[in-house]
Amino acid sequence: MKRIGIMTTGGDCSGLNTAIQRLMRGAHLRGWRVFGIIDGTDGLCTKPVNAIELTEDMLPIENARLAGSFLHNGHSGALNFETAAREGSLQAFEQKIYKSLGELKLDALIAIGGNGSLSLAWEHRDVYRNVQLICIPKTIDMDIPLTDRTIGFDTAVEQLTRFCDQLMLTARSHHRWFVVQSMGRDCGQLALNAGVAVGATAVLIPEIKFNVDSLIKHILNAPTDYGVIVVAEGISLRGHSGRPADMISRQLTAAGIPNRTAFPEHTQRAGDTTASDRLLATAMADAALNAIENNETYVMTALQNGAVKTVSLSDFANAGESVVDPNIPDLKTSNAYVSLDDPLLDIAHNMGIYIGEIK
Ligand code: F6P
Repeated sequence: MKRIGIMTTGGDCSGLNTAIQRLMRGAHLRGWRVFGIIDGTDGLCTKPVNAIELTEDMLPIENARLAGSFLHNGHSGALNFETAAREGSLQAFEQKIYKSLGELKLDALIAIGGNGSLSLAWEHRDVYRNVQLICIPKTIDMDIPLTDRTIGFDTAVEQLTRFCDQLMLTARSHHRWFVVQSMGRDCGQLALNAGVAVGATAVLIPEIKFNVDSLIKHILNAPTDYGVIVVAEGISLRGHSGRPADMISRQLTAAGIPNRTAFPEHTQRAGDTTASDRLLATAMADAALNAIENNETYVMTALQNGAVKTVSLSDFANAGESVVDPNIPDLKTSNAYVSLDDPLLDIAHNMGIYIGEIK
């Protein structure tokens, strides 16, 4: 009988509970025991190890759609590779993780994480040498290479779209514009997808340079005197500091365009998991369990051309290499980010959305 561990690391997003519940169900059907590690790697560093054996009644199927993580993602003082390195206790931290995995007698560990967590897991892979390490990619940022989708992205797009939908109505009433700042770190996928879904007047993303005068001209010539401008949190404007939405808002105000800013913040990580994210979480859980059966290790589940498979973590680490775009100083993009041949850029442009100086 195998023993498997599950942990959720990095920022949360919707879809984590679906993945946990499906992993638990699929493992139990195989006759395996499942242990949930609390607060990510921090749970492996407490004495005794902070882990619970998962049973079907702990995470009922009807709760699997809820956002957040049943296993938690870490508190403010949580120990992880980064905080341990900062505190100068990396070696002790690594030894403790290695020891705890042994104490739990785990055959496999499934780490559900974002770009940062996956990179760190690969960098410090030696601590996982005695278990099969299977990673599942999740993030609202969609900045993980080699997978066409990450768990949580679809729900985040839905949440941001609904947020903008509501603002569109009050914008219309007052003949004004809302500058909405999306999350996404230095990746524009979330802003672009929600912006097109809502029918924004403009979408500004880190991957594409924009011109404030062109933006203003575009708004003044728009067929409506109201609307939404989606600004990704990763954009920067030379000579300006502060929040990107505030920078753009100030420029619009100076040009006589009535506007307000709005910040959906962590609501983009919340919300009941969409069917699409649940399907992805289920397929990735299934692929992760199959990978354990196939004796794979150091792999990540990935959606490619409609099917979920596994790819090696070393391929992930190499594919994620950052390059500097000479047109956007200080910005590093990887091949997971919005590329200039993304069909959605053409669609946005053809629908009258200003997306920067690429046409
Ligand atoms: O990576 C997910 C993410 O939500 C980013 O989009 C955002 O910049 C960041 O995490 C926010 O982090 P925190 O929860 O620490 O405020």
